[in-house]
Amino acid sequence: MKKKKQSGGILSLSTRAIHGNKLYAYKGPVATPIYQTSTYRFETSDDAVRYAKGDPSVYVYTRYHNPTVHDVEEKIALMDHGEAAALFSSGMAAITTAILAFTKPGNEIISTAALYGGTYRWFRDELPQSGITVKFVHPDHLDQIERLVTAKTTIVYVETPTNPTLDLVDIAEVAKRVRNAERKSGRKIFVMVDNTFASIVNQDPFALGADVIVESATKYLGGHSDIIAGLVVGTSDFVKRVKGLAKHHGGCADPFAAYLLTRSLKTFELRVRKQNGNALALARALENHKKVNRVLHPGLPSFPKHQLARKQMSGYGGMVTIEVKPSKGRSAVEAAARVCDNLKIAVNAMSLGGVETLVSIPVYSSHIFMSDTELLQHGVTPGMIRISVGIEGIEDLIADFEQALALA
Ligand SMILES: Cc1ncc(COP(=O)(O)O)c(C=O)c1O
Repeated sequence: MKKKKQSGGILSLSTRAIHGNKLYAYKGPVATPIYQTSTYRFETSDDAVRYAKGDPSVYVYTRYHNPTVHDVEEKIALMDHGEAAALFSSGMAAITTAILAFTKPGNEIISTAALYGGTYRWFRDELPQSGITVKFVHPDHLDQIERLVTAKTTIVYVETPTNPTLDLVDIAEVAKRVRNAERKSGRKIFVMVDNTFASIVNQDPFALGADVIVESATKYLGGHSDIIAGLVVGTSDFVKRVKGLAKHHGGCADPFAAYLLTRSLKTFELRVRKQNGNALALARALENHKKVNRVLHPGLPSFPKHQLARKQMSGYGGMVTIEVKPSKGRSAVEAAARVCDNLKIAVNAMSLGGVETLVSIPVYSSHIFMSDTELLQHGVTPGMIRISVGIEGIEDLIADFEQALALA
């Protein structure tokens, strides 16, 4: 497995997540205060003029900026080794605003097709209506990127690991192909990575050559299934333009959600490392179960892209997907539903990344809108159960899945 490089400073991830850059004698609260306000008093009217001239110390309106939100943005930028970050009201607000800030009608995006359902549908159904074309590339044929790039291409977008098969995209290879294409076209093309499934604990997209990280902070960063939030991380210039558009599109983060997120960051690395360990142990325990056809987890030697996982990830993540066999009198999806309905500890609910183990059936949830052909292309089968492994006792989790599978 890739040894994590300490790029961007010598402080560990947890130190950056807990302290941000407040590493000096600092008088004030230890916990981040919640600035639950929509607007800010000016000392004198001159403040408004200073703000208009670009003075960052003048706060005017929470849709533009807020100190609690700013605290998270500063910490995330440090954690991801980015120059700057922007916090949004959801992962989708982050993704859509980042993309729209750098595309206009007539532009093109190249993307892998195995994506979070919301992103995929936005690419497939809505962006083309605004005159923005999305071309899909297969993760096993990344050489095609250079052929697909035109003078109109502004972004190459990837998500890895992907939902629910946990298929991996070689980020370094994507970046190499894009840099080659840039040299030919003479124009900047941004490599944008959705790092939600791995999180910065397990995968460092900037070290692999990406330009921008987008992420649903609803998942591992939030980690308690109680907030919706999203992030864009990149250079100061990139984030400045994204924030400029965010002012008009309005997907700003709420100060209370930002407070909960900054609180969650303090245990983020601890939680994710525990989830990594639990996921690998659960995957191993279920791999040879007689009611299970396949177990997909990047850390298993049987995983089709295990070697790529070893190369580009520093931990294998907390997601495991199992494929339940059809049983006597039950189709595969019925058997999968029976497992989910009989789990006593793991919770039958959408989403991922929280401290509690969650399960969902992709063909009933994230992939319910897909045609049979699309399901086949995405490698999604009816018996699949996606497991977001939490931090419960691993013996309890294994016993829970064994008793539920016995009833399938
Ligand atoms: C990989 C990935 N990206 C983006 C999103 C969207 O995030 P949010 O629900 O916070 O808008 C999700 C949500 O499930 C996701 O799984």
